[in-house]
Amino acid sequence: MKIGFVQLNVSFGNPGENLKKIISLTADKEADLLVLPELANSGYLFSDKNELTELSENIETGKFCNALKKISTEKNCCIVSGICEKSEDKFYNSSVLFCPDGKYFVYRKIHLFDKEKKWFSPGDKEPEVHEISGESFSKVKIGMMICFDWIFPETARTLALKGAQIICHPSNLVMQYCQRAMFTRALENHVFTITANRIGNDIKPDGEISFTGESVILNPLGDYLMRASQDKEECLIVEIDPSAALNKNISDNNHLFNDRRNKFYKI
Ligand code: ACM
Repeated sequence: MKIGFVQLNVSFGNPGENLKKIISLTADKEADLLVLPELANSGYLFSDKNELTELSENIETGKFCNALKKISTEKNCCIVSGICEKSEDKFYNSSVLFCPDGKYFVYRKIHLFDKEKKWFSPGDKEPEVHEISGESFSKVKIGMMICFDWIFPETARTLALKGAQIICHPSNLVMQYCQRAMFTRALENHVFTITANRIGNDIKPDGEISFTGESVILNPLGDYLMRASQDKEECLIVEIDPSAALNKNISDNNHLFNDRRNKFYKI
């Protein structure tokens, strides 16, 4: 199975431009699963509610989402993308898994970072896993979490306990820790992880924010299979055997899940 990410300098307020870049970065690439950054349609640093309203979209009808659905079908590739979502009168920092058969699944970020709390409602559903199949793989379970969710190990653990073999992780990372910390998220759950980060800055009259790049893919032993640059847009792909994530033994006598002592974790 070929999995990868698109590391992108998302242009704030310019979903058309972002889509063009995604199309051109993936044009000559073959993959079964590609992950794009957080808020890949809109950009990150909002200044007011009007911007948020204008740049968010309904997942069923939005132009950006429909373009990703089409790319997924044409390339016969599952695509996970961060989306600035509008649903009724609420806004969510969401991730959507688009499948080639037209089905899609939504996860809404449950741990909002810093000023995101001003703009977005926190996710209203438990993280779930979704089974995908393709020409060269079948019944692989995929989970989604978004950026700052990484610092709450419960997010990745919940997905792994539900059977996720690959955790897709659209991100707009602003601190330096996550790329190193994903070693632990991958190892402690014996899962593959794909962190698709942003590069560049959002520069607004009232502030500026920089993103750290270095998108990473890890295997269930915590090996870094792929690491992108800090400052280039790139689409990197690696071939994996997703069944490696089904083995939860860490020694002959230790199983990551069966050895949990839940009665001692009353927090
Ligand atoms: C983040 O959650 N975008 C830092």
